[in-house]
Amino acid sequence: MSILPNRRIVLGVAGGIAAYKAADLVRRLREHEFDVRVVMTASAREFVAPLTFQAVSSNPVHCDLLDAQAEAGMGHIELARWADLVLVAPATANVIARLAHGLADDLLTTLCLATTAPVVLAPAMNRQMWQASATRANVRTLLDRGVSMLGPGEGDQACGEIGPGRMLEPDEIAAKVATRVAARFGGGVLDGVEVLVTAGPTREALDPVRYLTNHSTGKMGYAVAAAAADAGARVSLVSGPTALPAPPGVERIDVTSAEQMYAEVVARAARCDIFIAAAAVADYRPARVAEQKIKKGDGPRSVDLVRTPDIVAAVAAMDDGPFTVGFAAETESVRAHAQDKLERKGLDMIAANRVGLPDRGFASDRNALSVLWRDGARELDLAPKAELARSLVALVAERYRAEHPA
Ligand code: PMT
Repeated sequence: MSILPNRRIVLGVAGGIAAYKAADLVRRLREHEFDVRVVMTASAREFVAPLTFQAVSSNPVHCDLLDAQAEAGMGHIELARWADLVLVAPATANVIARLAHGLADDLLTTLCLATTAPVVLAPAMNRQMWQASATRANVRTLLDRGVSMLGPGEGDQACGEIGPGRMLEPDEIAAKVATRVAARFGGGVLDGVEVLVTAGPTREALDPVRYLTNHSTGKMGYAVAAAAADAGARVSLVSGPTALPAPPGVERIDVTSAEQMYAEVVARAARCDIFIAAAAVADYRPARVAEQKIKKGDGPRSVDLVRTPDIVAAVAAMDDGPFTVGFAAETESVRAHAQDKLERKGLDMIAANRVGLPDRGFASDRNALSVLWRDGARELDLAPKAELARSLVALVAERYRAEHPA
C-alpha cells in the first residue's frame, strides 16, 4: 500500500537491451500505486513494442514529438506538466548525451527540457561506454543541474562483459523513485535544504609511491549522504579515495589529500545549509613530499610532519556558516573526548563513535553513535550504517529546524 497513491510518473524508455526490463518496471511502479505514462524513443521501439507498455501501464504510449493527434490530447508540454517525476530507464549513453547538451530532437528529450519535475535517470550501457570520459562529463553536467542517477549496478552485461553499466533491477528503481516522490510530496525532513558531506579517508603523500592514511572506507559518510538525499536534500559529497559508488542523486567531488578536501569544502560551505564531516581527515601530513621514491637506508629514519587544516573547525568558524556536524572517532572515553571536540571546534553537533572494535566504526557495515549538542544528547544504538545514518539525519534535521524555524 503506497503512502502516495496516484502520483504521476512519466517513464522514458530509451533504446537499449534493458528496455525489456522497463515493462516490469512499469508493473513495479504501479505496485506503488503510481499512474505511469510511457514515452518511447524510436530506438526503444526496435527492442519492445509500444503495445507491451500500453498493456502494463493501462495508458496510451507516447512516441512522437510531432503527432497532431497527440498534441491535441497529451503532447510534450502537457506530459511535462502532468509529471510529478520523469524517470528515464534505461537511460542510454546517447540519451544521457542528448540531455546533457539540451537537445530537443524527440518527445523524450523535449519533455525533459520542458518539465519542472525532478528528472531521474537509470543508466544502462556497456561498461566501457559508462566509463568513457565523454559519458563521465555528461553525467557530471546532469548531476550539477540536479538530475539524479539511480545506478548503474555492476555485473554481467548483455554484451558478455562484466563491470559497471547494468541497469538496476526494476523493484530497486521503483522503491527509490517512491522514496524520492515521498520526500518531495510527503514533506521530507530536509526538503529544499543544501547538505554538504565529507566521507572516506585522506591520503598524505610521502613520495610518489607511499602515503599516510587510515582505515576509513567511506561507508558511514556515504550512508549519511544517501540518507540526506532520501530526506529531500540536495547533497554534495566531498569524498576521499573509496571503492564506493556515489549514492543516487548525490553529486560527488573526489579528492585525495586533506588540503584538497579543505579547498573543495570551503568553496562550497557558504552555499550549504548543513555540513556533516564524516571523513577521517589526516591531522598531519609529511612536511616535504619527496620528488623521487625514497630509498631505504640501513638505520631507522624519521619523517617530519606538519598539521593539516582543520576543515570542520574552519567551516564552524565561518560568519553565517552552515549548521555544522562533526564526527569523533575515539578508542576510549568516547563521550568526554567528543564533548571536548564539540566545544573546541565550535560545532553545532557531534556524532561520536568507538573505533578499534571489529563490529563497528571503521570498515564495518554497522556502527553506533553518541550524538551530542550544546544542551542535549542522544544514543543511537548499534545498527546497519544505512539505518543509523537515517536516524542521524532525522536528528540533524530536528536540531537544524529548531535553530532555523521556517
Ligand atoms: O568510513 P568508514 O569505514 O565507514 O568509517 C567511519 C568513520 C569511523 C571514519 C566515521 O564514523 C568517523 O568517525 N569519522 C570521523 C573520523 C575522524 O577523523 O575523527 P576525528 O575525531 O579525528 O576528527 C573529528 C572531526 O574533525 C571529524 O568530523 C573530522 O572529519 C574533522 N577533521 C579532522 C581533521 C581535520 N584536519 N579536519 C577535519 O575536518
